[in-house]
Amino acid sequence: MSENEDWLAKAGAQTRLCHSGYDPDSFHGFVNPPIVRASTVLFPNARSMEAPTQKYTYGTRGTPTTNALCAAIDDFEGSAGTILLPSGLAAVTVALLAYVSPGDHVLMVDSVYEPTRHFCNTMLKRMKVEVEYFDPAMGEAVESLFRPNTRLVHLEAPGSNTFEMVDVPLVAEIAHRHGAMVTMDNTWATALYFKALDFGVDVSIHAVTKYPSGHADVLMGTVSANAAHWRQLKEANGALGLCGSPEDSYMILRGLRSMGVRMAHHDRSARAVAAWLETRPDAARVLHPALESFPGHAIWKRDFKGAGGLFSFVLKGGEPDADKALGSAFVDALRLFGLGWSWGGYESLAVLVNTQDRTVCQAPGGGPVIRLQIGLEDVEDIIADLERGFAAVKALRG
Ligand SMILES: Cc1ncc(COP(=O)(O)O)c(C=O)c1O
Repeated sequence: MSENEDWLAKAGAQTRLCHSGYDPDSFHGFVNPPIVRASTVLFPNARSMEAPTQKYTYGTRGTPTTNALCAAIDDFEGSAGTILLPSGLAAVTVALLAYVSPGDHVLMVDSVYEPTRHFCNTMLKRMKVEVEYFDPAMGEAVESLFRPNTRLVHLEAPGSNTFEMVDVPLVAEIAHRHGAMVTMDNTWATALYFKALDFGVDVSIHAVTKYPSGHADVLMGTVSANAAHWRQLKEANGALGLCGSPEDSYMILRGLRSMGVRMAHHDRSARAVAAWLETRPDAARVLHPALESFPGHAIWKRDFKGAGGLFSFVLKGGEPDADKALGSAFVDALRLFGLGWSWGGYESLAVLVNTQDRTVCQAPGGGPVIRLQIGLEDVEDIIADLERGFAAVKALRG
């Protein structure tokens, strides 16, 4: 361990986010790593090509730039190794492909990111992997779903769009007792607010497209495994020939350095907006795990150190035929909020959510569900824009 790594190992999470992954002494004192573009790496002789002893061998197997990002993420996650993928969705699908085989049974939380469900219901099905969805709120009862061939449990907490919490350590303990492993899409909280591997998760997955990028201009995914699951992940990644680009890796490492302050701001503003929405009679419910009124709040409070800036609310409605028009009127009236997928960037975004993809859970009733990504703008301006949405709905109601 170098002197740099020694002081860093004892430092707090924010300090490590700023400094881990790269030692400026290793490249002429420059504070950031070089962007090394590479396919070919040269070897000194024929023997060393057969049995390499050098650190770098080929562009797909890592460069100083991609390695700096992987090392920073391993430090952040407490993982044994990390792979980089070209998107968050690819990170989820490659993590699942790395561990499942034909004949396996997979338990998947029902509030999962919809494209993950699509992958399971198409490609995994074609591979003869049986995927069964379970209610994130079922707690210990999930044990009844385990079978001798249950290989993997996939979690997301909070769930996509409707933010249901899962008791991660409980499910992980049950899974391990039944010989199954646990993967988790931890994009919402990041390891800053929920260090998944410390709660029994074996493989932590992130769309680093979101908060680590922070500027809506990079797509990338990471998969980080504990020591028991690292070799298989690395082998699968090598077999598939996947790798992250050096430019994008540089951008994500750059984003990690300031992610702590950005996330704290997103969290603070989102809680302020969620609390304001709770006071509005025209909002039926606010779906934010940090609110005491939210059903999974106790689990969030016990296990999480903070919250992401993404949450939803139910606009008061309840007539299925009219709900879509109400929701559309609300989002169409917004000026500061953009209408767009993804999240985690500096800018506020709104989406009218489709809750019809769930197969086990009930969608929250009472009206259309609107998902908000609270950006880094002033809270007063964000609230003024949401007022525009409520005014448009009022005008439509007449
Ligand atoms: C929870 C979650 N996981 C994964 C992804 C996929 O990330 P990407 O857009 O990088 O494919 C998203 C994207 O919105 C997401 O919300």
